[in-house]
Amino acid sequence: MSAKQLGIGLVGYGFMGRTHSNAFRRVPNFFPGVYEPVLIAVAARNEARARDFAAQWGYQRAETDWRKLISAPDIDLIDIASPNDTHAEIAIAAAEAGKMVLCEKPLGRTAAEASTMVDAVEKAGVPNMVWYNYRRVPAVVLAKQLIDEGRLGRIFHYRAKFLQDWTISKDLPQGGEGLWRLDVSISGSGVTGDLLAHCIDTALWLNGPIDEVTAMTETFVKERKHSLTGQIQQVGIDDASAFLARFANGSLATFEATRYARGHKALYTLEINGESASLFWDLHDLHRLQMFDHRDEGRLRGWRSIHITDSDHPYMKHWWVPGLQIGYEHTFVHQFADFLEGLESGSVPGPSFRDGLATDRITDAVLASAKSKTWQSC
Ligand SMILES: NC(=O)c1ccc[n+]([C@@H]2O[C@H](COP(=O)([O-])OP(=O)(O)OC[C@H]3O[C@@H](n4cnc5c(N)ncnc54)[C@H](O)[C@@H]3O)[C@@H](O)[C@H]2O)c1
Repeated sequence: MSAKQLGIGLVGYGFMGRTHSNAFRRVPNFFPGVYEPVLIAVAARNEARARDFAAQWGYQRAETDWRKLISAPDIDLIDIASPNDTHAEIAIAAAEAGKMVLCEKPLGRTAAEASTMVDAVEKAGVPNMVWYNYRRVPAVVLAKQLIDEGRLGRIFHYRAKFLQDWTISKDLPQGGEGLWRLDVSISGSGVTGDLLAHCIDTALWLNGPIDEVTAMTETFVKERKHSLTGQIQQVGIDDASAFLARFANGSLATFEATRYARGHKALYTLEINGESASLFWDLHDLHRLQMFDHRDEGRLRGWRSIHITDSDHPYMKHWWVPGLQIGYEHTFVHQFADFLEGLESGSVPGPSFRDGLATDRITDAVLASAKSKTWQSC
């Protein structure tokens, strides 16, 4: 049977534009199926760079206006890999044109914005997904399987942090290319929407809904020069954000994210403590899952480090031979492979736009709590 072609239009050729393009190209090799992705067009504002990107990654054409992708009859799927302030307008236009939509996280800058996006894709009935790619790390998927099998028993604690150190210099400008994350009008928030959103999405997936949160945030550098205007402007983002949470299953949680933890570049760790067993995962060592099982024979009890490379581990039979590990970029390949498999089976797996909205509701509650210094129901 010949493959059904799926025309792709990508918006944004930055960091995520590359991870997604790599996924589109790798999936047919490692996860062959009914659908064959065809890289039709990339849209970004700089024409020469968009053209170079198209040539480098194999897109048939480059556009400077994303609306050209929406109106193109040979494009079935719009992939949004541009800054947060563009997500809603592009996603809603794509859904209204009947295109499938993949969107980077956070879904919206606020839950209200994300809600309009959910309405649009659900009204149009188009397949949709948010690129919360850490759900596709084989070790994290194994953690999910072990939790769902009940191996941890009653869950008492969930603990997550995401630490970076790249905005410590007070001389770093805000806004513009590469620095839009520091401009609150573009990003919506600081580390809460950028880093904690990942931790929250994984947590909701692994441990269920969150009932309430209490948070604190800080902006350590209060004013920065804006790259585009040259003016010194107040900084509107949160540089650091930490919160306590109660999950619906009765467990307690702590979450922390910062860009001021000197020495840490992308330290995403999570730990879950249950009555029978605990799990720990670290992005810097992403192919391992640490597990302590209290039911082991007493003399041999201890933390074991499972090397997730065997063919019976999630996704691994598609890659190399046991003992050889995979990395960060593969999480995007897995997510797109799951999306295509979902199209085939008629049931696209999460995180859907509705799941992305659930995370935005928690990040909104975190920011509201930090402001009001009160617990917020979610
Ligand atoms: N899933 C993840 O782990 C992850 C990691 C990084 C970023 N992200 C998300 O991906 C998105 C993009 O982040 P990035 O790090 O790739 O940013 P980036 O700055 O590297 O790239 C952004 C791209 O968008 C383009 N762009 C900006 N405005 C545009 C417009 N109006 N029309 C078309 N193109 C436009 C820029 O030219 C650039 O090519 C953000 O929403 C971010 O939060 C997710």
